[in-house]
Amino acid sequence: MEGPLLVVRQLVKRFGGRTAVDGVSFEVRAGEAVGLLGPNGAGKTTTLSMVSGLLAADSGEVLLAGRPIEGDTDPRKRLLGLVPQELALYEPISAWDNLAFFGALQGLRGAALADASRSALELVGLADRAKDTVKTFSGGMKRRLNLAVALLHDPQLLLLDEPTVGVDPQSRNALFDNIEALRRRGKTILYTTHYMEEVERLCDRVIIMDHGQVIADDTLAGLKRRERGAAQVCCELSVSVDAACLEVIGGLPGILRAELDGTRLTLHVADLHDGLGAALGHLRRIDVVVTSVGSRQPSLEDIFLALTGRTLRDV
Ligand SMILES: Nc1ncnc2c1ncn2[C@@H]1O[C@H](COP(=O)(O)OP(=O)(O)OP(=O)(O)O)[C@@H](O)[C@H]1O
Ligand SMILES: [Mg+2]
Repeated sequence: MEGPLLVVRQLVKRFGGRTAVDGVSFEVRAGEAVGLLGPNGAGKTTTLSMVSGLLAADSGEVLLAGRPIEGDTDPRKRLLGLVPQELALYEPISAWDNLAFFGALQGLRGAALADASRSALELVGLADRAKDTVKTFSGGMKRRLNLAVALLHDPQLLLLDEPTVGVDPQSRNALFDNIEALRRRGKTILYTTHYMEEVERLCDRVIIMDHGQVIADDTLAGLKRRERGAAQVCCELSVSVDAACLEVIGGLPGILRAELDGTRLTLHVADLHDGLGAALGHLRRIDVVVTSVGSRQPSLEDIFLALTGRTLRDV
């Protein structure tokens, strides 16, 4: 296909006086896996809702395979599969019956529906629980079924809105393996999560939103190059230092922040030369010996913090 699979141009959505999405534009090419990150309330879900046609934009446009979607019955809507942030399942009925219901909404029937249901359940590892009532499922199993529902009609573009949230680490790994398998099968993925390691593993490119706007859209390597200021230096100390001393170090020229874990001091430096020099000088003056020093590339978490002033973990 020529051109991007998805084009989002100048999307705007207001709720009352609040602008939830404020002129968002980006593109996703076929086969790409793109992470969509942002603090709570940044406008990620609202953006995905407009892309999937659940919510009408106040202005702007969404082009799928080069053209806007024309209403709910447009067959090109089948290019899209949305895994919503809130579980969208009928708990009193079985997993199989949920798939039958949602598959019918996608126009699937008979043998095609049964085949699609079987392979979706297989992929998410729920084949042996097909006949069980959803309310007896664990949170992780419900999340996996939520993903299976979105896969039924074999969409080319998957919009995944925090698909692994609220599940234990083991289920999260299982679910994430399913998503990686979809990526290997050539699916195009727009992926929202608060788990940075998932984005580092899955995504070619990262879009960061804050206050309804896109504040970065780049490859991981590109973001890391731009955020030189987020470099970190780890120093192993002969003895631990107290909170007052840590505060002094954090305020030295060239240092953005200092953290201590036992005798391991981590410095977030704006300028490696000035920051490290000042910290080593100060430690020498107070007779603390530095036994080793190492530096590390900024992580996506550091970049996010530098761009938004917040960490994803504490939002
Ligand atoms: N239906 C709604 N009515 C009123 N305000 C809404 C509605 N949906 C979202 N908002 C507001 O729009 C803003 C963006 O919300 P949105 O759910 O898109 O954020 P998000 O980036 O997905 O956040 P999270 O990480 O918490 O899921 C928030 O200020 C939210 O309160
Ligand atoms: Mg959301």
